[in-house]
Amino acid sequence: MAGKTTASSLPCRLLLLLFPAAILALSSTEVSAIGVNWGTMATHQLPPEKVVRMLKENNFTKLKLFEADERILEALLGTDIEVMLAIPNYMLKKMSEDLSQAASWVEANVTRYKYWGGVNIKYIAVGNEPFLQTYNGTYIRQTLPALRNIYEALRKADLESEIKPTVPFNADVYDSPESSPVPSSGDFRAEVRDDAIEIIHFLYRIGSPFTVNIYPFLSLYGGGGHFPEEFAFFEGLADPLRDGDHLYTNVFDANLDTLVSALTRAGYPDMEILVGEVGWPTDGDVNANLRNARRFNQGLIRHVMSGLGTPARKGNIDVYMFSLLDEDAKSVLPGTFERHWGMFEFDGKPKYELDLSGSGEAKWLVPVEGVPYLAKKWCVLNPEANELLDLLPDTIDYACSLSDCTSLGYGSSCNHLTVQGNASYAFNMYYQMNDQKEWACDFNGLAVTTDRDPSDDSCQFPVMISSAAGAGFRWIYDGLVLLGAFSVGLLMMPS
Ligand SMILES: *[C@@H]1O[C@H](CO)[C@@H](O)[C@H](O)[C@H]1NC(C)=O
Ligand SMILES: *[C@@H]1O[C@H](CO)[C@@H](O)[C@H](O)[C@H]1NC(C)=O
Ligand SMILES: *[C@@H]1O[C@H](CO)[C@@H](O)[C@H](O)[C@H]1NC(C)=O
Ligand SMILES: *[C@@H]1O[C@H](CO)[C@@H](O)[C@H](O)[C@H]1NC(C)=O
Repeated sequence: MAGKTTASSLPCRLLLLLFPAAILALSSTEVSAIGVNWGTMATHQLPPEKVVRMLKENNFTKLKLFEADERILEALLGTDIEVMLAIPNYMLKKMSEDLSQAASWVEANVTRYKYWGGVNIKYIAVGNEPFLQTYNGTYIRQTLPALRNIYEALRKADLESEIKPTVPFNADVYDSPESSPVPSSGDFRAEVRDDAIEIIHFLYRIGSPFTVNIYPFLSLYGGGGHFPEEFAFFEGLADPLRDGDHLYTNVFDANLDTLVSALTRAGYPDMEILVGEVGWPTDGDVNANLRNARRFNQGLIRHVMSGLGTPARKGNIDVYMFSLLDEDAKSVLPGTFERHWGMFEFDGKPKYELDLSGSGEAKWLVPVEGVPYLAKKWCVLNPEANELLDLLPDTIDYACSLSDCTSLGYGSSCNHLTVQGNASYAFNMYYQMNDQKEWACDFNGLAVTTDRDPSDDSCQFPVMISSAAGAGFRWIYDGLVLLGAFSVGLLMMPS
């Protein structure tokens, strides 16, 4: 394999390595920093400039995006936040078939922002978990050719030394056999082994990292009650898993070291690894709540910032938290928790105490400031609609099917509501998602608007943020134009 060092080339390589190694040693005295994923599958977006300001105030230095979102990239201009851009799976086919498509993507979405005072783009994610089992192999054959073309396009733009393409894999591409369920037995799954290793070979050759998404929450969620809960967290309270000389006290380390073993088996023991997504949701399941999310994320951050690494790989671990904000338009196919991964609510309010420096102080993240909200109005069940109550179940279903009721389900934050409470919750979500339009709070007379907040301690009835980021501005602008016309009118009035 070309990626391996032969004995004869070793001394020369060592010399070449000495200089960068010295720089590395210097820069690694900087603390490792926490990255974050910013997904935008929400019905109402926060203004990107305000979110970017919040990222800076919280000292996030690394950001991962799922598309090359123009408004976000514009908002990042002039910051030094390091960015991973992504090419979504649906674009892989054309990228794989046609180098010129890859080149125009790079031109339009990368080169355009690469200048002094532009955007600090560092990685391109080619696809997102393209080998996921639920995709039935659709993207497996497209990924490597797309990756090659993107690399070639970067090379043509003279950006290949600054910007590295990578492929975020789901952790289901590797596992340990049931006969030996320990990290040191880790290997790539037989069905995808050859394809994965071909990609790894290419990534290694061009100096790109292997990116993996690791979800201890899903181990617990999918474990059917057999997964030891404490093993998902970092307090060392679970019975440790012994693997030779190594002792595992949490599933994150065990999972990462299973990958280290798989890479070592494939001939790449020193391949750089990025954890592209890791996090814990706060709603939509019995294990998804503020307490567990805080416990997991704070434990993870402390672990990562300690610089100790895992039993099989000492040193820094690079992670991107999943995720920044709640996204109310995500598919709930994987589960209703999908819309609740944010460390911040949809409106940029931090959900729980979290200290990103890992020093362990009790600390709140800085919220997004100056959020443009709709009016303080809610839509609830009309208390006088008693004779229509048999319509409730169907009406609730209707309102929920066109909004987001993932907080009502079993184990969720609003599961304690009565049928009437459920109706109010569903009506309000529909009303808010439709920007508090009058017609959106009717439901055949079952609903009325109120200015009394129906929220209780655990169940939030949100007021939506104002839809178009530019709307507030446009309104002021129109106002000024009107005012201008008015004063012109005044001037022109006959005196
Ligand atoms: C960000 O870093 C600065 C400088 O180190 C520090 O003063 C500030 O408290 C940090 N902010 C947060 C929210 O941790
Ligand atoms: C740039 O990226 C955006 C978002 O992913 C995409 O819609 C657009 O087609 C890309 N531009 C080109 C020229 O491929
Ligand atoms: C994968 O295959 C299953 C079973 O054949 C099918 O139900 C599902 O829709 C397929 N998914 C995709 C993304 O093609
Ligand atoms: C409220 O709705 C949720 C989700 O559909 C359901 O699980 C719960 O049983 C409902 N509550 C009542 C009292 O009907």
